[in-house]
Amino acid sequence: MIPVTPKKEKWAGNHPTQKPEELIRRILLACTKEGDLVLDPFLGSGTTSAVAMKMGRNSIGIEKNKKYSSIIEKRLKPPQKTLSETKVEIVKQ
Ligand SMILES: C[S@@+](CC[C@H](N)C(=O)[O-])C[C@H]1O[C@@H](n2cnc3c(N)ncnc32)[C@H](O)[C@@H]1O
Repeated sequence: MIPVTPKKEKWAGNHPTQKPEELIRRILLACTKEGDLVLDPFLGSGTTSAVAMKMGRNSIGIEKNKKYSSIIEKRLKPPQKTLSETKVEIVKQ
């Protein structure tokens, strides 16, 4: 069983439905391999991209609510290690 999102994962700010990293980790482990590109069109607090980054996957995330952009930005700030390069690009409209 995977516990609810622990407080220590909410350090970057509050999102009402932030998912536990362990849940996303298991999904990415089952469905992807290192270097793959993961798309989350409902990024929320950025969990999918944060976990993808830790697991050596690339990611594209889309979030319509600008109030979550600072949380996403903080979670993705650590340098992203991909197989070929280190790169995080956050596009705001
Ligand atoms: C269930 S939450 C995602 C939570 C995320 N997995 C996490 O761990 O933080 C869904 C998110 O989708 C966003 N959303 C809803 N409709 C959207 C749309 N049409 N395009 C982009 N984002 C959208 C909401 O603002 C919300 O933050």
